[in-house]
This record gives sequence, C-alpha cells and structure tokens, in this order.
Amino acid sequence: MKLNWNNYLIAGIMFAMTVETAKASIVDECSTIDNLNEEKLLNLGKLIIPELEGKSKGEAGKICVVGGSTEYTGAPYFAALSSLKIGADLVYVFTTENAAPIIKSYSPDLIVYPYLNSKNLPKMSSLLHKMDIIIIGPGLGREDDTIKITYEIIEACKLLKKPLIIDADGLYAVSKNLTIIKNYPLPGAILTPNNQEAKRFITAISSNSTWYTFWGDHVSVLHKGGEDHYYSSIASFDWTLSKGGSGRRAGGQGDILSGSLGTFYTWALKYDLCDNEKSVQLAQSVAVYAAARFTRMCNQKAFAIYGRSMTASDMLNQIHSSFDDVFV
Ligand SMILES: *[C@@H]1O[C@H](CO)[C@@H](O)[C@H](O)[C@H]1NC(C)=O
Ligand SMILES: *[C@@H]1O[C@H](CO)[C@@H](O)[C@H](O)[C@H]1NC(C)=O
Repeated sequence: MKLNWNNYLIAGIMFAMTVETAKASIVDECSTIDNLNEEKLLNLGKLIIPELEGKSKGEAGKICVVGGSTEYTGAPYFAALSSLKIGADLVYVFTTENAAPIIKSYSPDLIVYPYLNSKNLPKMSSLLHKMDIIIIGPGLGREDDTIKITYEIIEACKLLKKPLIIDADGLYAVSKNLTIIKNYPLPGAILTPNNQEAKRFITAISSNSTWYTFWGDHVSVLHKGGEDHYYSSIASFDWTLSKGGSGRRAGGQGDILSGSLGTFYTWALKYDLCDNEKSVQLAQSVAVYAAARFTRMCNQKAFAIYGRSMTASDMLNQIHSSFDDVFV
C-alpha cells in the first residue's frame, strides 16, 4: 500500500502521535522516497525537534566545538552559542590555552576547555567520547601545528564513530590532505564550504562536477552561497535553497550555520528517521536544510532591522524569533 508522505507527517505533528507510530509511517516512505521537496524537508525538520517536557539534561544534545586561536576567538563563540540557543543542552568548546579565557569571558553559558594541543590529545579524546557531535574548524587558523592537531582530532572522531561537521579552517586542513575523511564511518560527516572553500576542493580533487562524492557514501556537502546547494551520495536527497538571507556577508554568519547544524544534526540522528541504511543520509539532508533555512531567516530578520550595519551578534538576537518563524 502506498502511503501519502505529507498526510502522515502532518498527522504525526498535529495529533502528537506516539513516536513509534510516527516513525513507522516514515520507515514505510524511506524506501520509496524520490523527491524530497522543500515542504517535506521542512516537515521533517519540525518532526526532529525534541519535546521540552520530561527530558533530562543532555538529552537534547551535547555539542563540542573545536576551534579558536590567538587570532580568532569570535568564530567558536558564535558557533557554540548558536548550538546552545537553538536548544542543545550542553555546549563545549575545545580551544587553545590563550583563547580559552577570552571565550569564557564572552559567555558563562559555555564550557570552555583550554586543551587544544597535541600534548592534551588523550584528555580531549576521552572528553570527545561523551559528545553527541563535533564541529571542527571555526577560528582554528592555519598554523602547521593547528593542521596537525585537526587531523589528530578527526582521526579520534573516526575511531569513536562520532558525527562530524567540518567548517572554515577545518576545511582548509582537509583540502591539504583529502584522504583524512575518505570513507568516514557512520553516522557520517558534513562539510560546509563557502564558494572559496569549495573552489579549493574542486582544484584539489580535479573535478568540477562530482568532487563532493570523493569521500564516500557518508560524507555530504553544503555549498553555501547566494543560493545554498546540498550534495550527498543519494541524489534524491539533494536540494537547493534560495529563500531568506540578504546581501550582507558579515563575519561570523558561517559559524552560526555550523553551530546550528550541530544541534539539528544531533536531533535528526537521535530521531532515527528511517530505521534502515538510508536513515543517516536522510538525517543529514533534513538537518542541513533546517540549519540553512534557519540561518537564512536569522540573516533576513537581522538585516531588516540593521541593514548594512548588521553583524553576526545581531543575528544571535534573532535566533528565538527565527526558530519560531521557521519551525513553529
Ligand atoms: C593523509 O591522511 C591519511 C589518512 O589519515 C594518512 O594516512 C596520510 O599519511 C596523510 N598524508 C599526509 C601527507 O599527511
Ligand atoms: C572546471 O571548469 C573550469 C571552467 O569551465 C575550467 O576552466 C577548469 O579547468 C575546470 N577544472 C577542472 C579541475 O576540471
């Protein structure tokens, strides 16, 4: 029997069916899903958002942001605070010894560990073990030592089979050794390059058309820009998004995207959308769509108020209302 996807989703949301029933309807559709349009993506985005009632601390997500350096302290702060404000319970920042006190002083809401160096790798690995997801890259910088520690952390995440989001200078490190994330294990990795970072991959991989398939089935790519493009190993899960946003490109916007993706990806994986091997690919597609749509809404709303003077901090102030506008 062919079930109607939209009806089941809407029923699932509106009548607050038990999780088991809602899941069953999605499992049926996962094997036949062919066209994941924006309406379906948005409905699934709404579905993965956890209830607030009856949860214990940590259930809505423990996120780790690896980033920051002597030069950059804002980027990991924007990423981490976005994860938290969207609804993760606990957000940790692994950063350098000198960046840690600065990031702590921006916010008492974040847990900041000053362990980002090779000497403290065992300490970091044992902490990574407890995290739901790792976001690596915001404000890391490109020093040789930093690139080395980035590889070490990616290897540790691979061994621990942790879902991984790679952004900014983390992407730079990957472009210097493409094989570091080749065949990344489930529950997979997501790369979020802007145009310049995508170009670096296209050159390194020597392919204009299929560069995003280089890393295997469980690595997907959000190519950010005026239009956002999502690419994965399942073409029917790919999409393009142009709604929202503005022409303003203040520093820190990309960090808000990767931070919010940390929370949505955690939620999507916890929901276990399909109960089959496509579940993770669908979770990635839905989570990236939710994060991109949400970030573009924050940008649009902050731009409507501040215009050309809009900054990433102004976008943080729009998180609550943007979340409600998109998902509630
Ligand atoms: C790149 O990463 C792979 C996989 O982790 C590793 O085996 C290789 O030695 C690295 N190459 C360089 C040049 O660092
Ligand atoms: C990609 O496309 C551009 C423009 O068509 C071309 O100049 C370039 O050589 C291509 N690069 C690769 C790696 O195929």
